Amino acid sequence: NSRTPLIAGNWKMNLDHLQAVAFVQKLHWTLKDAKHEDGTVEVAVFPPFTDLRSVQTLIDADKIPFAFGAQDLSQHDSGAYTGEISGAFLAKLDASYVIIGHSERREYHAESDEIVAAKTKAALKHGLVPVVCVGETAEDLEKFGASAVPAGQLETALQGLDAKADIVVAYEPVWAIGSGQAATPQQAQDVCAVLRGVIAKVLGDEAAARTRILYGGSVKSTNIAGFMREPDVDGALVGGASLVVDEFAAIVRYQK
Ligand code: G3H
Repeated sequence: NSRTPLIAGNWKMNLDHLQAVAFVQKLHWTLKDAKHEDGTVEVAVFPPFTDLRSVQTLIDADKIPFAFGAQDLSQHDSGAYTGEISGAFLAKLDASYVIIGHSERREYHAESDEIVAAKTKAALKHGLVPVVCVGETAEDLEKFGASAVPAGQLETALQGLDAKADIVVAYEPVWAIGSGQAATPQQAQDVCAVLRGVIAKVLGDEAAARTRILYGGSVKSTNIAGFMREPDVDGALVGGASLVVDEFAAIVRYQK
């Protein structure tokens, strides 16, 4: 397939803006001559909001070939929404991506599938590529199997989108996040294939063939290659291991 693999680091609530600058610089030096330099693999980092301006300035000044994005956005454009961040602001910072509907936002901030859908539309409206996160809890897995809940979440998020919309999907089984217990490559492949089918059903075959689907949940340098060998896994959304320069760099340098 022609999909460029995407290795994305979700820093969550870690690294302040000074630490972020040091981290991105060090990662850049560590990855010099790695395959992302020739565009074979895309690298993206997702720092906290307060880091974005500093990261953007550094990436721009040193021509560092990493993309960056935010971890959330408001579904509204502007107005009386204290504490919220608009997609328009992120676009002005030259952010490329925004994570939407991460399980931690769904769980701790009560983000429903409908809010996730509204945020997905808001991201696209402002020219950002939404990284739409879906995944089943351990309880869902037991009751409904692996793919039913993520497929339903994705179907709602995609409703009403243009067939040409540029999106990324991240399959993150909640039980695998931060647990050290990753899904097997086969488990990830099975659900990612179902998710590709959902994209085909809602947005058409062209969108399904072009859209990148990432796996996330306890990805490390020691298990990345197995995921990347699967035909429907186009990259990884990495949490904990994205906070250690050498470990994240090793993930970017995976060999199939
Ligand atoms: O967004 C990233 C995921 O929540 C995965 O986190 O790699 O620490 O399991 P983890």
